Amino acid sequence: MRKLIAGNWKMNGSLAANQALVKAMLDGLRGAVPAADMALCAPAPYLAQMQALLQGSPIAWGSQDVSAHEQGAYTGEVSVAMLKDFGCRYVIVGHSERRQHHGETDDIVAAKAQCALAAGVTPIVCVGETLSQREAGETETVVKRQLAAVIHTVGHCITEIVVAYEPVWAIGTGKTATPEMAQAVHAVLRAQLAAASTNAKRVHILYGGSMNAANAASLLAQPDIDGGLIGGASLKSADFLQIVAAAA
Ligand code: 13P
Repeated sequence: MRKLIAGNWKMNGSLAANQALVKAMLDGLRGAVPAADMALCAPAPYLAQMQALLQGSPIAWGSQDVSAHEQGAYTGEVSVAMLKDFGCRYVIVGHSERRQHHGETDDIVAAKAQCALAAGVTPIVCVGETLSQREAGETETVVKRQLAAVIHTVGHCITEIVVAYEPVWAIGTGKTATPEMAQAVHAVLRAQLAAASTNAKRVHILYGGSMNAANAASLLAQPDIDGGLIGGASLKSADFLQIVAAAA
């Protein structure tokens, strides 16, 4: 399958910085078809800018979160219909930073994934263990529980999601999972998807956590690593493009 390299800009950027970054990426592609599908997930206020900058380009765009509600009295929230209005193709749900700082439970994450699917926006569902969970030997249990909630809620639509395995201890720390460690968890997730659907092979399972230009090729060479969800390195055009090239 064609790999997917998605950038998660997190709470970074400005009108000027985004424009320069996107321009550098598009210039770097030089009109050629990228070696992997590409997407950039920007902060919500910049989605109109992303639409203007990326429409007609080979780079899709997405949001970093979405409300679990359709509309109404939810001050500060952004609905999936609003994301669609701006041409969003993807939305990240259940990022560990939202689970940790915003109290998002497995059930909330599943409801968000369901909302996105219902609107035709692809949810990138993040799962991953903390360092203490890994040290306690709980990695498999944790990621399976997180994914099970989504499978339970979305049913046969599970083949329409993207999964991102992001070990919490590897995010923004410079400590990447080794290709073998990541592959082992990806294989567990693939088997769980296969038990839920005969089309599990179609589901992209991305790795995220300190993926960079230097380590991307060895991670992306693993049989069940179908792409990357890139934080820090997606803020540098040359690094991001090198990761895309490594997916060839
Ligand atoms: P880093 O690539 O900065 O470690 O972030 C990974 C991540 O959280 C992507 O969602």
